[in-house]
Amino acid sequence: MQHQVRLAGLVLSLLLSPAAADVTTTVSPVAEWGTWQGWGVSLAWWAAKFGQQDDLADIFFTTDYTTFNGASIPGLGFNVVRYNVGACSTNTAPDGTTMVVSPDMISTRQMEGYWLDWDSSDPTSSSWNWTADANQRAMMTKAQSRGANYFELFSNSPMWWMCTNDNPSGNNAGGNNNLQAWNYQQHAVYLASVALEAANSWGVTFTSVEPFNEPIDSWRGQTGTQEGCHFDRDTQDTVVTYLRTELDSRGLTGVMVSASDENTYDKATTTWNSFSSTAQASVGRVNVHGYQYQDGDRLALYDAVQASGLSVWNSEYGESDATGEQLVSNIILDLIWLHNTAWVYWQALDGSGWGLIDADVEGGTIGAVSQKYFILAQFTRHIREGMYILSGGSDYTVAAYDASAAKLVIVAVNWGSAQYLNFDLSQFTQGGVDGALVTRWSTEIGSGNQYVSYSDTYMSGTTFWSYFDANMVMTFEIENVQL
Ligand SMILES: *[C@@H]1O[C@H](CO)[C@@H](O)[C@H](O)[C@H]1NC(C)=O
Repeated sequence: MQHQVRLAGLVLSLLLSPAAADVTTTVSPVAEWGTWQGWGVSLAWWAAKFGQQDDLADIFFTTDYTTFNGASIPGLGFNVVRYNVGACSTNTAPDGTTMVVSPDMISTRQMEGYWLDWDSSDPTSSSWNWTADANQRAMMTKAQSRGANYFELFSNSPMWWMCTNDNPSGNNAGGNNNLQAWNYQQHAVYLASVALEAANSWGVTFTSVEPFNEPIDSWRGQTGTQEGCHFDRDTQDTVVTYLRTELDSRGLTGVMVSASDENTYDKATTTWNSFSSTAQASVGRVNVHGYQYQDGDRLALYDAVQASGLSVWNSEYGESDATGEQLVSNIILDLIWLHNTAWVYWQALDGSGWGLIDADVEGGTIGAVSQKYFILAQFTRHIREGMYILSGGSDYTVAAYDASAAKLVIVAVNWGSAQYLNFDLSQFTQGGVDGALVTRWSTEIGSGNQYVSYSDTYMSGTTFWSYFDANMVMTFEIENVQL
């Protein structure tokens, strides 16, 4: 079905001229949607379990091929790492209290925290335990040594003893704040102190610190399965302002505060617009989670953030669709409407379709690489840090431009029946070179091709085309392109 081979040169190209293409998209040369910062993953649970494994670090944080379960797997080349600073500890506080644990808590989701009690805010005192959470830190260090260069510290809950019910899974009335008012500043002190320790002792300078996780949602302590904490919007406003101050007072003036990691685009817009000018000025980037999937007003969030001169990250995305269909659909919607400058998957290893690699984190066993992994590779291995995001010209196409290499990257999906998709580069000052090879890679949603590369497609003037099976994702690289 590969119709682009120029065996018979002119004859074949006439036979398969653009008249044979079913649909055409015209890629825009206007670099208006920002400079891409990267793709990444949150560490947290999977890394606390499997954080010592070099093969996983190679798979996620390099673009090399790694042998894994007997197969050669193309690395995803993530350069963004989110480190989850824990809320749990097993010590007894000075007044005899200990952490309250939800009966439904999943033990591998209890993340070890560093600040054990309120006795002292001096991180060199015995109120702090810097040996905690070694595995997650190990994976962060492995990522850094492989080239990761954006590190975000994020919190799912304040330390348990800062909470009203000593339970880091949330308030017993889920929609109520769980951080006690006398600890608003302490939560900021905790995060800033960990960021300072990381800079001084771990060799990791965090790019940003995010004090919340889906804070406007309800997190119910007695039935919680993971760490979580509701913060109403006024409290968020107060905490981000404290966090800016605490980072600055430790000399971490270059470390951004990011906020608020709300669960949906629409909640994120409401939260951002609710912030005082002081709180907005304390925040260096707006983070949002992608759990609204196909719904929600992505553009409204972009507009609100853009008006403040900031950029937006999709800092957490995940679902149970191992086929990759939801993943490709939502990444394209983000790049077209949200104009995020980074995209971060939630748990790289997980069960029930959520993992890029299937795993039973509680059981400590690792299964197969999912089809969704290869769909993601179609983006992450080609749209790289520093490229400009362009408009692909249709709702099934995204494009990025590498100015230093004069290279255009196009990722497209065919939601229809098998057909030609035709790509028009005539708007560019130089839309490639007539007759030049266009390298392509293909992955099929569900099953079939897994990041298979082909050298069979050529420019015809400033156009090329390719025959897509139904539900096929393809990536193209075109050389000698000038905006
Ligand atoms: C500090 O963390 C280590 C590693 O998890 C743990 O074994 C130890 O019990 C902790 N110390 C205290 C005082 O909680």
